[in-house]
Amino acid sequence: MAENNKESETGARRAVITGASSGIGRATALHLAAKGWKVVALARREDRLAALADQIGDACEYVVCDVTDEASTQAAVDTILHGGDVKALVNCAGGAIGQDPIESCEVEDWRRMYDVNVLGTLRITQKLLPALKAAPGGGTVVVVSSTAGIEPYEGGGGYCGVKSAERVLAQTLRFEQVGEPLRVIDVSPGMVETKEFSLNRFHGDQAKADAVYAGVPSPLTGDDIAECIEWAVDLPDSVDIDSIVVRPRAQASAQRVYHER
Ligand SMILES: NC(=O)c1ccc[n+]([C@@H]2O[C@H](COP(=O)([O-])OP(=O)(O)OC[C@H]3O[C@@H](n4cnc5c(N)ncnc54)[C@H](OP(=O)(O)O)[C@@H]3O)[C@@H](O)[C@H]2O)c1
Repeated sequence: MAENNKESETGARRAVITGASSGIGRATALHLAAKGWKVVALARREDRLAALADQIGDACEYVVCDVTDEASTQAAVDTILHGGDVKALVNCAGGAIGQDPIESCEVEDWRRMYDVNVLGTLRITQKLLPALKAAPGGGTVVVVSSTAGIEPYEGGGGYCGVKSAERVLAQTLRFEQVGEPLRVIDVSPGMVETKEFSLNRFHGDQAKADAVYAGVPSPLTGDDIAECIEWAVDLPDSVDIDSIVVRPRAQASAQRVYHER
């Protein structure tokens, strides 16, 4: 068995999690902290991050950061690196905007999605790479993309495109860094019922957001995805889980979802 990565020579391992103010990112912060990691929670909403830090206690720091803003991301990285080593980066910041067909969708929605999901991941990953590779035992980049990046669906042109680009970013980084002390893990979830994802997608329309999950027995939760992430990052440093594709049992594909009547 390869040496595991449970604790570095300098103490608890430290993980940076973007999109930690809600959903999958928040759940990941809670899971990793419960496993003995120190977590640095990033997002734009400070009140949410402060509440998370209160809940976790000493093992949680937070830094307000907008990953679509170069200066904000650089300032966050400077603060993070000032605080110590970084062994893992979990890129959760992102989401969908709109579900309109290509004939009538908004160009601006696609641009915003690309900016937060793809360029946001690129901005912070690029800046933290040297620190991740310098971490005792090596570092890990997790990219939370989506099954939307594997199989397009009607109305998903923009979101499927950016999630596909995120998957490609992860694969390319793995190619480029082979031989370096770095793992790159793609996590591609199917339907996850988080409070804000669909609400944001449908511009605050709660009825439309609720309809996504109506009648679907047990969609995935943020905790389910956090558990997958926790498992993958807690494996020995030499073990790279390239991709985790995870769906609820009731979802065979994006378009083939079982609904209870
Ligand atoms: N829910 C699903 O069904 C599902 C399925 C597959 C993949 N995913 C992906 O999983 C990730 C997390 O989704 P989720 O369901 O947890 O959604 P969520 O609850 O809406 O969380 C999105 C997170 O991203 C942060 N964020 C958004 N824009 C940001 C920006 N410009 N800078 C920094 N942080 C930003 C939000 O925080 P602030 O607003 O506070 O900044 C929030 O913490 C996303 O990339 C999503 O595409 C979701």
